[in-house]
Amino acid sequence: MQRTPLIAGNWKMNLDLTSAGDLAKALHQNLDGLPGRDVVVIPPTPLVHAVATILDESTIKVGAQEVRAEASGAYTGDTSIEMIKSIGATYCLVGHSERREYHDETNKSCCEKIRALLNAGITPIYCVGEKLATREAGETLKFVEEQLRVGLGDIDGEEVLHVVVAYEPVWAIGTGKVATPEQAQEVHGHIRGYIGHLFDPEDGEGIRILYGGSVNAENIDGLMACPDIDGALVGGASLKADVFERIVKFEDV
Ligand code: PGA
Repeated sequence: MQRTPLIAGNWKMNLDLTSAGDLAKALHQNLDGLPGRDVVVIPPTPLVHAVATILDESTIKVGAQEVRAEASGAYTGDTSIEMIKSIGATYCLVGHSERREYHDETNKSCCEKIRALLNAGITPIYCVGEKLATREAGETLKFVEEQLRVGLGDIDGEEVLHVVVAYEPVWAIGTGKVATPEQAQEVHGHIRGYIGHLFDPEDGEGIRILYGGSVNAENIDGLMACPDIDGALVGGASLKADVFERIVKFEDV
């Protein structure tokens, strides 16, 4: 099954209105209409509208980093799915390890968000991945299976192809310590098989699985050469236009 590669830039809690606008304009100029791959940028929520407006006429899509599953209500400081949708987001991260770490995100709450996002027609990018101690205990595959089983527990086979999975080993995020292509491929291949088992083998073949964790211009080609890596979720290296452009153009250089 043909899977279109997807490169997503997670800007995390960086940039402001001016610098985010400058970055979006540079990406618009250099990455618009690039064939054979999807490109998404994921600014902080207050900047989504401005970035989406700049990229409105381009092929680059915009995502949000976080939402609440409830439609509305007394949740001070939180953001609803309709809010991000109304300002131009078509993707949303779910279960990023920093949300799991600092905001008590659980597999169960991820499940509710994925359900609600799909209801609204927004593509969830569901982040999974183990900490170093789990890897060293040899429990990575079991740990990731549980994240998938619970997180994807409220959707059916028709819908799972509207979800993107991002495998992000926590020990590789922001540390400069990228997983080797072999380490990443092992988990990606396992995730694909497990999704095939949870849903249907065709769903396993069709779902896009991104790698995340210290992706940069130097290591992207080796990662993208792996058969089960369909793209990347890029943090730090997505903040510089030229570096992110090189990552997006992984095969062309
Ligand atoms: P990093 O972050 O590329 O800075 O390691 C990746 C992520 O957290 O999505």
